[in-house]
Amino acid sequence: MSTPTPTKKPSRVIRVGIIGTGAIAQNHALSLSLSECNARKIWKWKSSSEKIKIKLYALADSDEGKVKAFATHFPAEKIYFGPQAGFELIDDPLVDAVFVLTHTNSHLQYVLYAAEHHKHVFCEKPLAFSPAEIQQMIEARDKFQVVIQAGLVMRSASPIAYLKNLMEENREKWGRPMNIIFRGSQDKPYTGTGRHPSTWRKDVTKSHGGILIEHSIHDIDGMISIFGEIQEVYAKIRNLAGHEGIEDSVSGILTFKSGLTLSLNACWNEIDYDCRRYEMFFERAQIVIEVESATKELASVSIRYLEDPPYNIPMEPMDRFFFTELGFPQVQAELTGPYYVEDLRFINAIVQNNILSDVPLELGKYAQTVIEACYESNRTGKPIYLP
Ligand SMILES: NC(=O)c1ccc[n+]([C@@H]2O[C@H](COP(=O)([O-])OP(=O)(O)OC[C@H]3O[C@@H](n4cnc5c(N)ncnc54)[C@H](O)[C@@H]3O)[C@@H](O)[C@H]2O)c1
Repeated sequence: MSTPTPTKKPSRVIRVGIIGTGAIAQNHALSLSLSECNARKIWKWKSSSEKIKIKLYALADSDEGKVKAFATHFPAEKIYFGPQAGFELIDDPLVDAVFVLTHTNSHLQYVLYAAEHHKHVFCEKPLAFSPAEIQQMIEARDKFQVVIQAGLVMRSASPIAYLKNLMEENREKWGRPMNIIFRGSQDKPYTGTGRHPSTWRKDVTKSHGGILIEHSIHDIDGMISIFGEIQEVYAKIRNLAGHEGIEDSVSGILTFKSGLTLSLNACWNEIDYDCRRYEMFFERAQIVIEVESATKELASVSIRYLEDPPYNIPMEPMDRFFFTELGFPQVQAELTGPYYVEDLRFINAIVQNNILSDVPLELGKYAQTVIEACYESNRTGKPIYLP
């Protein structure tokens, strides 16, 4: 009797195009290369009915020099440049999914055009200039049934997921959360030199605003992901550098629906010190998370409980926990970072035909609604209640 030949799984290649080959595109291209290498292992394990392959296939940028320089590090079969480059990339029939990584003012046009052309989209934060524009993206997603994922990278940071779980486990022991102090600082990200080669962040027509929308959106969204929705905001912003509409200092009090308060302080100054620090106080415990770009560790996390000696949690168990929770337990923690995680989740949403993805546009719309309320509070001098 002859043994039946095993049926070969059909192969599916997901061809990805990147629009906007600047700074953040490097993180995504690197993550996509890792996904390219690991795809077979990951989606084989997830018992997909197809053999999944991922390919960085096309690059587009309005600036010819930038896209060509980028392609020397991350080669692609197709390269588009010039004012119509992004649309031409979307029109390419072989492109299945696009990463929109351009200045914020062009996100909406590319997301809508890609959805209409049945391409899946990953769009960096801030998604657009207003919650109403994000609503247009949501409607396009639902109408054309494509995956659109928001680039809210804190949702893919393992310390956030790990701590959320730890807080739930220790709810009785640690007591209620009392308040959170957040402070963030970054050297001005629009100088056109060193770490910040581009200047668009000081042009309000391209960025929509300053540190609050461009930088602190991550911190606000990260805290929302742990502590839930926000009921009221009161904020003061300042503009010391004088670029119109670009706040470089923000102080605010954000009150969660639970009554917990977050005091937020952030600024863009001229010190080469890029640091985020969250201190979360509970009735009997304190958690400190520090993310400093100069240090090698992605984040340092320390916990203090009553009189016990404080202890640190290394990244490895946090990564391991998060990857297991996501359903990718075999991914090598040492190779990862939150951009890799969010890109894996995007590809997984395409494979699973889950148009919402793990990080749906609604989360981006909500974070932006909170930020618009902060701007309104500053304008009116009053606290703004979020319905
Ligand atoms: N999630 C994060 O941590 C994170 C970090 C940095 C930037 N971002 C976001 O990513 C986006 C890009 O930021 P960046 O720092 O990479 O900027 P960048 O200036 O380094 O790169 C943007 C690139 O897009 C190109 N471009 C601009 N408008 C275009 C258009 N209409 N069509 C085609 N190409 C166009 C520019 O020539 C440039 O090469 C922004 O929305 C920013 O807020 C997110």
